[in-house]
Amino acid sequence: MNESPLCIDVPRAAELLRRGEVVAFPTETVYGLGANALNARAVARIFEVKERPTFDPLIVHIAELPAIFDLVECVPAAALHLAEQIWPGPLTLVLPKKRLVPDLVTAGLPGVGIRIPAHPVALDLLRQTGCPLAAPSANKFGAISPTTAQHVIDGLGAQFIPVVDGGPCALGVESTVLSFMGPVPVILRPGGLPIEDICRLIGPVDQAVPDPNADDAAQPAPGMLSRHYAPRTRLLLVPISRQATPVAGRRTGLLTWGKQPFSTGFAQIERLSTDEDLRTCAARLFAAMRTLDSADLDVIIAHQFPAYGLGIALNDRLARASSGFVESQVDVASN
Ligand code: TXA
Ligand code: MG
Repeated sequence: MNESPLCIDVPRAAELLRRGEVVAFPTETVYGLGANALNARAVARIFEVKERPTFDPLIVHIAELPAIFDLVECVPAAALHLAEQIWPGPLTLVLPKKRLVPDLVTAGLPGVGIRIPAHPVALDLLRQTGCPLAAPSANKFGAISPTTAQHVIDGLGAQFIPVVDGGPCALGVESTVLSFMGPVPVILRPGGLPIEDICRLIGPVDQAVPDPNADDAAQPAPGMLSRHYAPRTRLLLVPISRQATPVAGRRTGLLTWGKQPFSTGFAQIERLSTDEDLRTCAARLFAAMRTLDSADLDVIIAHQFPAYGLGIALNDRLARASSGFVESQVDVASN
């Protein structure tokens, strides 16, 4: 456990949250920066701490399924079926909000995103606090999501944000966001619950596609930001099965997994797994990005993942952390 004075226990965290303060806490996906979801002033503090634009809505966390009916007008049968099968788990359902959910939580949208996190500390905290908790990932806007209490302290410690240490996040990638605001369910963000699992339970779903010509506030779904989850060091992608090679004359880091091919000459290598297990890769991705980002590199080369299961979410995070593919960066050495 972390020895930092910023680390607090669940009863103390619940007390602070009830008082309208913000506290970081663990979930199975990433650490969240929580506040009472029904207290607009407390929620405003989240945006302030994260320096997050208010067009990007927050996910509301609850401890038990019946609590959803306090927050939303209706739950379609398919959404209820998913909630019953998956929760607690890495799935956020966007449903028509009731008026008591502050507009700040949903960025003025008519839908609110809700999930039950699968982490005993998060569930204990929600129960002891006694209210739903709005919580985005506990990092500065656009930065890499935290998967340990130390990551939270590294990013938000200067603002004295208290954190409940629940160990490293088992899943390591954010929840899948599924909207029930239209006639067909739409995936707004691929995440820790594979899309295939959703289709198996409720049939086909649509997928929202980012508009490359729209600015971040005008995307078809909020949070479809071109640059997000990003290290400060430039990151370039290599397609799966293609050999990764260092950029000539540059201190190059490698982010790879499994048996993906790479040549010699990398200044530092983070290999997420020795086999093809994407769960291991997900659990380590953000921590490995941080390690490479603090290794004084000029550029990071990252192997893509397969386009199925958790690989879809991992590729989404890599794409938003990157400035494109190696081949399209002919001028990389001169930048
Ligand atoms: O796993 C997770 O989802 C983590 C943990 C802490 O639960 N939370 C998280 O929150 O990743 P955040 O704020 O970093 O991402 C929230 C994203 C938004 O950017 C948006 O894409 C989507 O979820 N979202 C949330 N509420 C929504 C709403 N009302 N309508 C549409 N999209 C919404
Ligand atoms: Mg986030």
